[in-house]
Amino acid sequence: LGLLQTGAPLAGKHVLVNAGPTLEALDPVRFISNRSSGQQGYAIATALARLGARVTLVSGPTGLAAPAEVTRVDVESAREMLAACKAALPADVAVCVAAVADWRPDEVYGLKLKKGREGPPAITLVENPDILAELSASGPGRPKLVVGFAAETNDVEAHAVAKRQRKGCDWIVANDVTEPGVMGGGENAVLLITAAGTERWERAPKSEVAQRLALRIAQSL
Ligand code: CTP
Ligand code: CA
Repeated sequence: LGLLQTGAPLAGKHVLVNAGPTLEALDPVRFISNRSSGQQGYAIATALARLGARVTLVSGPTGLAAPAEVTRVDVESAREMLAACKAALPADVAVCVAAVADWRPDEVYGLKLKKGREGPPAITLVENPDILAELSASGPGRPKLVVGFAAETNDVEAHAVAKRQRKGCDWIVANDVTEPGVMGGGENAVLLITAAGTERWERAPKSEVAQRLALRIAQSL
């Protein structure tokens, strides 16, 4: 039994992970989106499943293969991602790694917009729902641990600490996306912000960052 527990500390737990970009349609052939390879989120889903968790991975379009032993739900827009995340509840833990588009065009045209004499169309954007904030909101169905990510280009720790407060999540994993090789690359250098303070994790392959985070999640439950 001891071995079983160390091998599968997350057995019996359901973890919801979201990953990848969202895609916000303008018309049938155009969209706006965010840069995201999905690698870090997929690595986290994989690491959690290896520790025995039942994992639901709600994913925007990435082109990545679904990790083994993970249930993947494919979505495109932020609103679809929110609905799929809510439908996956209850979960013991939620890890929001997705690069959710902050805005979407206010109107989706049913037909392709054509070039015309009026010149380029003006696109009005409206704000998308905040999935992490909604999953963090207190209520009977709230996961015991909600983890968000923060991609920053400056003042990483200050922005991430403020983000943790604003979103109401328990932990924030923050990274500096101006570091070479992070966006779209294989490595990540992150800060883990919890109620207890800030931990600086040394730069490592995304798969190792994922394993370390999965172990921390297992310890905290
Ligand atoms: N997030 C989300 N829904 C959104 C926007 C962000 O769930 N509409 C989540 C991301 O998945 C991530 C965290 O919130 O876990 C932080 O995302 P980030 O873009 O860094 O923060 P924002 O609150 O959108 O603030 P800003 O982009 O202005 O820095
Ligand atoms: Ca954002």
